[in-house]
Amino acid sequence: MPRLAYVNGRYLPHGAATVHIEDRGYQFADGVYEVVPVFNTILVDEDMHLDRLDRSLSELRIPQPLSRPALKLICRELIRRNGLTNGILYMQVTRGVAPRDHKFPKKSKPALVLTTKQMKPHSEALLRQGLKVVTLPDQRWARCDIKSVSLLPNVLGKQAATEAGAYEAWQVDREGMVTEGTSTNAWIVTDGNRVVTRDATNAILNGITRLTLLDLIRAEGYALEERSFSVDEAKAAREAFITSSTSFVLPVTQIDGQPVGNGHPGILTGKLRQHYVDYMQSLRQSA
Ligand code: PDD
Repeated sequence: MPRLAYVNGRYLPHGAATVHIEDRGYQFADGVYEVVPVFNTILVDEDMHLDRLDRSLSELRIPQPLSRPALKLICRELIRRNGLTNGILYMQVTRGVAPRDHKFPKKSKPALVLTTKQMKPHSEALLRQGLKVVTLPDQRWARCDIKSVSLLPNVLGKQAATEAGAYEAWQVDREGMVTEGTSTNAWIVTDGNRVVTRDATNAILNGITRLTLLDLIRAEGYALEERSFSVDEAKAAREAFITSSTSFVLPVTQIDGQPVGNGHPGILTGKLRQHYVDYMQSLRQSA
């Protein structure tokens, strides 16, 4: 089955799908994106992702490329045509094509690209061992709540993590507090078994996995605090984990070379991952 991409109204072979060289996404990173998990062919938390897409677009004053029902139809069609069962749907909207000039063009149509990617389940070894994170200064701008394609600091951070043999880099603000990973939200569990994650301000992307997990945590009655935590507190925590559309919930067992808790994936982290997977399994396709 050839892999297809959707580009501005057309389904094209993935390898041959292109956009114009003067697309403002290419020249200015003037665009936004979403990564929606697809689990057993179902788009997980689709409306929450589309709400966040609408918000990112409106914060940057980029018009919506399509109505929500039209966009949903295309998402389903691309998943169907690509035979996608488990993986992600990637959506990108840029301000469109115009002669290079920083200010908004008078005339441009937002450009929409959708792709899908099949992904393997997380390996047993990863779940058994947990993953390593390193910490580094947060060098990003003041609007990390917008899911912009301008991701250079995140790219550099992930590369630094990779070169250090780690899976993720936790970015740290000037006060020494962890903001989030380069493509994931950061969480700890305190000695008192309280789950802690940074409150959603402009300093972080308000992850959809984060929001859903917060609901599950409240529903299960676990103690929860939405607040900043320092690198020192994270290193002294009982458990740590990350969330994202591609990670779901993954245990962190080392921070800057120091074991978290007993160095093994946390018990509460394991339960939260299971709650999240159960939640995805319970979903049925919405209209
Ligand atoms: N990243 N923080 C940042 C900086 C992110 O880029 C992401 C998602 C998250 C988690 O958000 P969500 O739970 O909605 O996936 C937090 C995606 C997966 C990416 O860029 O590939």
